[in-house]
Amino acid sequence: MDPFYWGLATSAFQMEGFVQNDMTQWEALGGFRQDGKNPLYQNGAAHWQYWQEDYRLLASIGVNAYRFSMEWARIEPKRGHYDQKSLDHYERMLDTLLKMGIEPFLTLHHFTHPVWFHAQTPWTSEAAQDVFCSFAEMLIKRFASKINYWITFNEPLVWVLAAYGDAKFPPGKNNVTEMIHAFLNILKTHACVYDRIKSARPLARVGLAKHFIVFAPGRKWFAADRSLADLLHGFFNKMTLDAFKLNRLKFRFPFLFNFDEPVVLNDKIDFWGVNYYYRMYSAFKLNFRRPIHFFFKDAAGHGLTDMGWEIYPKGLGQILKAVARSGKDIFITENGIATTDEALRMRFMDEHIRQILSARQNGLPVRGYFYWTFLDNYEWLEGKSKRFGLVHVDYANDFARKVKPSAEHYARMIAGDCAGKAAPAKNKI
Ligand code: FCB
Repeated sequence: MDPFYWGLATSAFQMEGFVQNDMTQWEALGGFRQDGKNPLYQNGAAHWQYWQEDYRLLASIGVNAYRFSMEWARIEPKRGHYDQKSLDHYERMLDTLLKMGIEPFLTLHHFTHPVWFHAQTPWTSEAAQDVFCSFAEMLIKRFASKINYWITFNEPLVWVLAAYGDAKFPPGKNNVTEMIHAFLNILKTHACVYDRIKSARPLARVGLAKHFIVFAPGRKWFAADRSLADLLHGFFNKMTLDAFKLNRLKFRFPFLFNFDEPVVLNDKIDFWGVNYYYRMYSAFKLNFRRPIHFFFKDAAGHGLTDMGWEIYPKGLGQILKAVARSGKDIFITENGIATTDEALRMRFMDEHIRQILSARQNGLPVRGYFYWTFLDNYEWLEGKSKRFGLVHVDYANDFARKVKPSAEHYARMIAGDCAGKAAPAKNKI
């Protein structure tokens, strides 16, 4: 049987702290307003400072893989100038992981940008491709020999929706045409980075982490809501996968938008990273400005998370089947729950992992599972109020760490290797 990776997923900005980027700038300008409150970043989980202690915890959980990103703003605080101290710091982290026998999965872009980026070379401009690809190339030159698994972008469609569709993330735009342009430039940049990684390290595996949602009709009896759920599935889940095969990004959403653009991707992707969290309901409503209403409900009886999301493990099985049609390997690059109820978190993990095991039994090429996330940390729109971590962080007490029962649960699961055939594989490539 093929090796299986048991991991944890993180992103640099959400946990590291001690950095200025477009998100901290956005926060300072009052851009984040959720329920009238401003989620305060306050150095995330201070991982930049406490990473050695954190890595000891990581080792104690027994993972054989770890997904993390390097903070672009920290490395390139001024355009074209790379900060060697930060790169050295990341190299120490990387070497420590390798010494512990933990396979690094590096994400190159996870939502954040240096402060200069949106003003000088926003994703709507072609220049962004070159800027990001050059940054990536520098990292590739330095780290290619140590990293087998690369994730170019995290949830690019979610990011463009938040940044250009809904003004939630910087640069805070609300324009579908710009959103599609930004998305096309990101996809083209993915292809550029893919080529650079392959020429430095032909056997490296390069993927993209994509958010998948199970869409359900708000009113099952209403044909329009049923078609809406299908349309959303097509747009959100399928369109990007298809673009890799068709070299076109196209979608028609009646009355809302219609595009069909060339994008040369030539199927340049070795694996799909699946980020899966929930099922979502949608319904049409009589509101010209916001004609679609999205909501969650506890339809399956598993409960809602502290984010208000429906727990729907079966959905993961459905998504895995759909993604497997791409013919590519699959890693679950994120799956997790915001809760303070540890019994619920453990059930959540068990139920989702059960879906993975059965997908593997059915022959689907699912190669790894990364629980989101390692430490409680900063959540984009909610700040510190949502706790996804397997390790508790006491923000009021100098970020003190405390392992939660769910971390021990995961450790036992990994030790017992519940995938059976999931023997740890170290630096296989
Ligand atoms: C995903 C993001 C990740 C985290 C989880 C909860 O969409 O990729 O950074 O915030 O949601």
